[in-house]
Amino acid sequence: MQGFDKLSLSGVGVMPDKTSGARHVAIIMDGNGRWAKKRHLPRAVGHQRGVEAVRTLVRAARELGLDALTLYAFSTENWRRPEDEIAALMGLLRRYIVADIDEFVANNIRLKVIGDYRALPGDVVTLIDDALAKTAGNTGTWLVIALNYGSQNEIARAASAAAAKGAITPASIEAELDTAGLPPLDLLIRTSGEVRLSNFLLWQAAYAELVFTDVLWPDFAPQHLRAALAEFAGRERRYGGR
Ligand code: IPE
Ligand code: IPE
Ligand code: MG
Repeated sequence: MQGFDKLSLSGVGVMPDKTSGARHVAIIMDGNGRWAKKRHLPRAVGHQRGVEAVRTLVRAARELGLDALTLYAFSTENWRRPEDEIAALMGLLRRYIVADIDEFVANNIRLKVIGDYRALPGDVVTLIDDALAKTAGNTGTWLVIALNYGSQNEIARAASAAAAKGAITPASIEAELDTAGLPPLDLLIRTSGEVRLSNFLLWQAAYAELVFTDVLWPDFAPQHLRAALAEFAGRERRYGGR
């Protein structure tokens, strides 16, 4: 209820906390292919429209005042897709970074990548490293993009790093996860009607609230994020207590 206090003290009157107390929201952006198929369009067009949805949602996340928005963009299992689809996705990633980096800088967005992104094509790695460097001094909303990300791979890497330093404990593993330094995950959303985690944030989701929606990713708009936050607001988080 920090939001209430802050706003009433500032003299603008009591307004509801726009994020319902959620600081970190993650989304499994699924359904680009089905969105395109329904319209008899190539899958690549679905992915292209998916990027538009990302752009709009990042703006909304910042305006809502979320601390972190984590987006599942490419999984360790997505290498199983046909080469031309992977190439189209890499092309969209290139263009998205180039087109939006100035906006991230201007809007105080802090970029972070989780996953083993160094396995992506070399020029994409360079673009990512440049974008990370350009936003490293920013202090606003974290935009966390999961690229060549798989939770099992992340946990295995973290456990190895923890073991190299000493005892393996939940805390020592957590400190080595790609998400170290981000606020705890509050809300995990998956679009497109699939009800599974597909190797995304398995560790971090331990006590996150889960929201599944039938909306296909290219159709996912700020109103859907607000609806998920409203659902989150109605949940009672008990963390095993009573
Ligand atoms: C999500 O859309 C985008 C990625 C996984 C990169 P999909 O491409 O999985 O779309 P569907 O699930 O086939 O509809
Ligand atoms: C999960 O979607 C991965 C991303 C959104 C990047 P998929 O479409 O790859 O997941 P499955 O294959 O349906 O589990
Ligand atoms: Mg899918």
